[in-house]
Amino acid sequence: MSESYKVANLDLAEQGKEALYIAERKMPVTAGILRKQFAKEKPFEGLKIAGCLHVTKETGNLCRTLIAGGAEVYLCGSNPLSTQDDVAAQLAKEGVHVFAWHGNTSEEFYWCIRQCLDAKPNILIDDGADLIVTCHKEYPQLIEDGTVIATQEETTTGVQRFKAMDAAGHLKVPLFPVNDARCKNEFDNELGTGQGIIAAIIGMHILFAGKKCIIAGYGHCSSGMALRARGLGAQVMVTEVDPIAALKATFAGFKVAPMDEIVHEADIILTATGCKNVVAKKHFDKLKDGCILGNLGHFDIEIATKDLYDYATDRKPIRKDVEEITLPNGNKIYLLAQGRLANLVIAEGHPSEVMDMSFALQCLVSEYILNNKDNLKPGMINVPNDINDKVGSLKLKSMGIKMDTWTEEQRAYCLGYEEGT
Ligand SMILES: NC(=O)c1ccc[n+]([C@@H]2O[C@H](COP(=O)([O-])OP(=O)(O)OC[C@H]3O[C@@H](n4cnc5c(N)ncnc54)[C@H](O)[C@@H]3O)[C@@H](O)[C@H]2O)c1
Repeated sequence: MSESYKVANLDLAEQGKEALYIAERKMPVTAGILRKQFAKEKPFEGLKIAGCLHVTKETGNLCRTLIAGGAEVYLCGSNPLSTQDDVAAQLAKEGVHVFAWHGNTSEEFYWCIRQCLDAKPNILIDDGADLIVTCHKEYPQLIEDGTVIATQEETTTGVQRFKAMDAAGHLKVPLFPVNDARCKNEFDNELGTGQGIIAAIIGMHILFAGKKCIIAGYGHCSSGMALRARGLGAQVMVTEVDPIAALKATFAGFKVAPMDEIVHEADIILTATGCKNVVAKKHFDKLKDGCILGNLGHFDIEIATKDLYDYATDRKPIRKDVEEITLPNGNKIYLLAQGRLANLVIAEGHPSEVMDMSFALQCLVSEYILNNKDNLKPGMINVPNDINDKVGSLKLKSMGIKMDTWTEEQRAYCLGYEEGT
């Protein structure tokens, strides 16, 4: 039998309540329209939903909306350093079974996941695939006996892992890659990560203008970061492995070059590739004195952090979640957040306005799962377009923005083939 909750300090609840309130005001779709609808219709009555998500004030509002819809909610953190302890405390007080605290060890991280799975949840909402993979490995009976109806994945790295699992024939549950919905990755990844890293570095009182900055990747997150760093006056260079993304970066006016050739020039290096060893051991001696290293990708292996720690002659914290690392050649570099998601560890993660859309999708996909539970097959299932459109429309409405709609004549033309030259 699982415990009811485990958080760092219940005394932080009052502060967490304020944080949840601030986010709620900026999440009119998830915390407003959908919460009201669910409170009336109670679609999740009798259902257990488990989330392995960054425990932030925005995630707290997702939990409140699912609870309003009748769900019993279990929550664990999806990264050892991203949990906001005050929010976790308040959620525990509100009846969320939350197992999360900032700075948990790898062993504790999986203990928290197991607490959620011990409760026999029906829907799993993951961020990085650890919850659902653990369910496959250690709780297969929950899948075999149909307790788990379906699952949802919030981030790119998680979706990559599930695609590989599916291709290998090992994915045994219906999986909705919510990350890949347009209303998610075109806003959350690009704007959220783009602004989040700027918030983290500006929070350290560092001037972007005039700095030479390498952004590794030019995908959803990284292109957002590159564009914003340039907007603040940095000279941005991009590294890529995908020819189309490299072309997009080139045509957007960035210098594109291999990391090996430009690493020595950088004052700031930021990674968001979903890959590993993007800043590798071979680069350490080339790093400029004073270089800042930050990772925004899901796992802490984009910058070879363990190798860096082993290679360092000295390591000391110089402010919260920033370490000064002395290299054998005497150069000092500054590593953000132990190589983990710097926007979530140093700043507060994505602004509530964008998480409103990501979590509205998670809510509506959960509802879709229940309405279609008899027809769902194991494997990847794209988020239906009408859910994407609904979230987009509700967000526009909440912002008081109107748009055009096709006339009947335009619809027939755009969807037809007969009219031509
Ligand atoms: N920090 C956050 O809050 C946050 C939010 C969303 C996603 N993420 C994570 O960020 C990462 C990137 O997500 P995304 O949605 O931008 O993915 P994406 O697929 O849109 O972009 C990744 C880009 O990196 C490139 N790339 C891969 N390996 C590379 C290498 N070795 N060197 C240079 N470029 C390389 C790819 O070609 C691609 O263009 C993932 O791990 C994702 O889970 C983090």
